[in-house]
Amino acid sequence: MPLMIVKGIKKQFSGTRKVNAVNMVSLSIETGQTLGLVGESGCGKTTLARILTNLEKPTAGEAIMDGDSVFSMSRRQTSEKIRMIFQSPAAALNPQMKIVDIIKEAIGVHEKDIARKERTDYAKELLRRVNYSNSVRKYPHQLSGGEKRRVAIARAILVGSPKLIIADEPVSALDVHIQIKIMDLLATLQAERKVACLFISHDLNMVEYMSHRIAVMFLGRIVEIGSRDEIINNALHPYTKRLLSAMLPIGEAAKRRLKAIAGYLSWAPTDDVQEDGTVDIGCCYRSRCEMYRDSSIPSHSKAECKMGSELHRVGQSIDHKVACHLALLKH
Ligand SMILES: Nc1ncnc2c1ncn2[C@@H]1O[C@H](COP(=O)(O)OP(=O)(O)OP(=O)(O)O)[C@@H](O)[C@H]1O
Ligand code: SF4
Ligand SMILES: [Mg+2]
Repeated sequence: MPLMIVKGIKKQFSGTRKVNAVNMVSLSIETGQTLGLVGESGCGKTTLARILTNLEKPTAGEAIMDGDSVFSMSRRQTSEKIRMIFQSPAAALNPQMKIVDIIKEAIGVHEKDIARKERTDYAKELLRRVNYSNSVRKYPHQLSGGEKRRVAIARAILVGSPKLIIADEPVSALDVHIQIKIMDLLATLQAERKVACLFISHDLNMVEYMSHRIAVMFLGRIVEIGSRDEIINNALHPYTKRLLSAMLPIGEAAKRRLKAIAGYLSWAPTDDVQEDGTVDIGCCYRSRCEMYRDSSIPSHSKAECKMGSELHRVGQSIDHKVACHLALLKH
């Protein structure tokens, strides 16, 4: 059953150039399950995460959770239900507070019925449950990267009763064996507390490890979404296939050369205003797409590449959708 339904979210940043950081994103997050969101740097993952936690207002679109619009909730109401584990734990933990006080502060907000004098012991207990073994009197800058993530996870999942965790690159810049420990901790606590998760990473290995379903994002758009098995074993979109071909088992990275992704990257996900002033609303992956440049594919088959990047259901599949008409034709 869907916990959150996201419909047509768009976020445009204005500046010298308009940037459509998130462009008509629709997806659902199932109760108690993990949806992985994967895509390269700058594709709009954090912007989407900030919108779904009500930290940023979208230009258009809606997110419904338990029948209520997320964007109509106060910050306080949102944080009771949805918590974010930020991409940079150093920035998310107040540098002037001791670790125990960071957790106590959250307890004071979300578990007011716990008496003040009991909050220190309760905070220590929560830190024990995430296997935090350093002193609780330390400040964030005195902690290792892994310890900071443990504190962030304790605060996000164990304090109060959140229903959804949005984990934005929660293990970036950690050693591989620490990454696995932190991901296992996250998955264990999530299952225990029956919390859903939007797990964001640029690394398909990690997303596969953590997720029940996977959404693949490119230049602000979801280009393919489906169950983990469908995306890993039956990917159809050329971008997903490229991500899969670049995927290395953890520890193998040093042994193999990565295959370059052909084509070029539009520097930013803009509305693609052409030199003649016309707006190109074609497929967001066209500039890189091998199929689009394949001369054996007749031009009439490619005509729709210039039309847009709508997601279409794959065959009879309930959940597998792809934004590529040629991939569907070939399927
Ligand atoms: N506040 C802002 N003002 C203007 N542009 C922004 C703002 N925040 C993000 N952007 C732009 O929106 C696009 C998406 O950025 P975002 O941080 O969401 O990407 P990301 O997928 O999380 O990248 P990374 O993997 O590097 O964290 C980028 O082009 C970025 O420069
Ligand atoms: S719609 Fe066309 S350009 Fe886009 S991914 Fe498919 S073949 Fe490539
Ligand atoms: Mg990001």
